[in-house]
Amino acid sequence: MSVRVRNLAVDYSVSDGTAHALRDISFDIPEGEMLGLVGESGSGKSTVAFALMGLLANNATVTSGSAEIHGRTYDLTRPGATTALRGRGMAMIFQDPMLSLNPVFTVGRHLLEVLRRRHPETDRKSRLAMAEDALAKVKLGDPKRRMSQYPHELSGGMRQRVVIAMALLAEPTLLIADEPTTALDVTVESQIMRQIIGLRDRIGCAVLLITHSLGVVTSYCDRIAVLYAGERLENGTVGAVQAHPGHPYTRMLLDCEVPLERERLPLTTDNRFTVIAGDLPDPRQRPPGCIFNGRCDVSFEDCARIVPADYPVDDSRGHSARCLRLRSPL
Ligand SMILES: Nc1ncnc2c1ncn2[C@@H]1O[C@H](COP(=O)(O)OP(=O)(O)OP(=O)(O)O)[C@@H](O)[C@H]1O
Ligand SMILES: [Mg+2]
Repeated sequence: MSVRVRNLAVDYSVSDGTAHALRDISFDIPEGEMLGLVGESGSGKSTVAFALMGLLANNATVTSGSAEIHGRTYDLTRPGATTALRGRGMAMIFQDPMLSLNPVFTVGRHLLEVLRRRHPETDRKSRLAMAEDALAKVKLGDPKRRMSQYPHELSGGMRQRVVIAMALLAEPTLLIADEPTTALDVTVESQIMRQIIGLRDRIGCAVLLITHSLGVVTSYCDRIAVLYAGERLENGTVGAVQAHPGHPYTRMLLDCEVPLERERLPLTTDNRFTVIAGDLPDPRQRPPGCIFNGRCDVSFEDCARIVPADYPVDDSRGHSARCLRLRSPL
């Protein structure tokens, strides 16, 4: 079952006014596919995840938005709209696996707890077998011993595997992974990404992968949504967006994409890449016209006064972008 998010908008109330963190965000994730939500720091990626999970900070208000998950539509403006889905319909992997783990519980207790909620009909013996099987599936060696270990006895990569094993047992319709590999060693990154893909293939869930790394998206995702200053500027399959970026921002991102294996090396003359000049606009004050106008290299007069709609780039593949250059000529 595919996941659909429509018109999500989130405000944060701050001391000097209201920060509009997200505006009119819509995307679809077909069943069994992984959507990479990519954007600079502060573009609103985690806000999307937290709004879906119902984990937003107290000063946040969802001013509009709905999510269709598991064939039901949830009104995200209603506090706690998706609480019942947490851990069943939706599971989340955070950058820091300790946010999902309780330091005083063993690995086994975490997994058994998920199974107790997800499969209350099973007995303890079969839950133990299912838990050990999940650890083996995420390639945590010696599952029997792991079951009695505490999170602090494991490395960061191993903890993240435990969290993935928990998601595997929860069998969610939607798995949200917010920068799941950012805190890990680069060699562990590909292993963890492979485990997430393995999980998706085993349970056929939709995955929302949040990352600041375009390389991660182009390497592992089926679809991409590009977020900029709280707006989704482009959306499409990775192949289509790479071949014909519809938005100048996406083109610039692709132009300065660093191969994944070089991304974390210190900047030297060998791997220096172009960065896009300028900063994200102030979320308290949206400029009139296109949100990317100030940093765009192909903007024209209308861009300063007309807010672009979401125009198709390639109708047949659901590829669209918010750029006035895509307006059909009158
Ligand atoms: N509780 C909050 N109160 C006020 N502003 C907030 C709050 N949480 C986030 N913001 C602001 O909302 C915007 C989006 O933040 P968010 O954390 O969603 O971005 P992000 O894309 O996940 O960034 P990063 O890549 O650094 O994780 C930013 O401008 C941020 O400063
Ligand atoms: Mg974030």
